[in-house]
Amino acid sequence: MKRRNILSLVGIVLISTLTVGLLSSFTKGSAGFDGHKFPELGYAYNALEPYIDAQTMEIHYSRHHKAYYTNFMTAAEGTDMLKTPLEQIFSNMGKHSATIRNNAGGHYNHNLFWENMTPVKNEIHAQLKAAIEKEFGSVNAFKETFNKAAMTRFGSGWAWLSVDKNGKLFVSSTANQDNPLMDVVEERGTPILGLDVWEHAYYLKYQNKRVDYVNNFWNVVNWKVVNDRLNAALKK
Ligand SMILES: [Fe+2]
Repeated sequence: MKRRNILSLVGIVLISTLTVGLLSSFTKGSAGFDGHKFPELGYAYNALEPYIDAQTMEIHYSRHHKAYYTNFMTAAEGTDMLKTPLEQIFSNMGKHSATIRNNAGGHYNHNLFWENMTPVKNEIHAQLKAAIEKEFGSVNAFKETFNKAAMTRFGSGWAWLSVDKNGKLFVSSTANQDNPLMDVVEERGTPILGLDVWEHAYYLKYQNKRVDYVNNFWNVVNWKVVNDRLNAALKK
């Protein structure tokens, strides 16, 4: 086997191993739910360089995400929310406080964001590619639509690729720490890819050039995870 083929194989095995561990902690239904956990990052702080720098990753994961998680756990103390998966909490978001909305949202969104990225170069999977081409015409047209959602989100928020209740893919963006699972947002569905466009996600390296951060995101997308999420969403 040629060296390049061996390296590709090693990459695929590594992505698969990371993915199985990460997704299993993320997709449990309420029956198997064993509490809200602060996740492992799954790669080193500098692993996504040069596209996302180590200092940004460290602050983002260990301070910003940790703060959302801690604030959510504090606000949920003594309530059923400690035994309720985030997806279920989001389906009744309108009944909860802004503190729960912002911090439970922040915890979920960052979980998804870390899992969406990998230091291992990988290609988009055939099934996901076909689904994207069906909805957007081409992968490039999809990326343009997604980038536009990320660029036109005023202030802080997220860009998403999601699956709606009919199994159709769509791109949207949400403000602050909202996401498409919440009953308070306009375009609802199951997110399978998310990009954090808060300034804390890119400002140290990119300053005001959000466009460069958004374009570089495509170099670190974990397509295997996105494809697995598509399959999980279609089975719902
Ligand atoms: Fe963030």
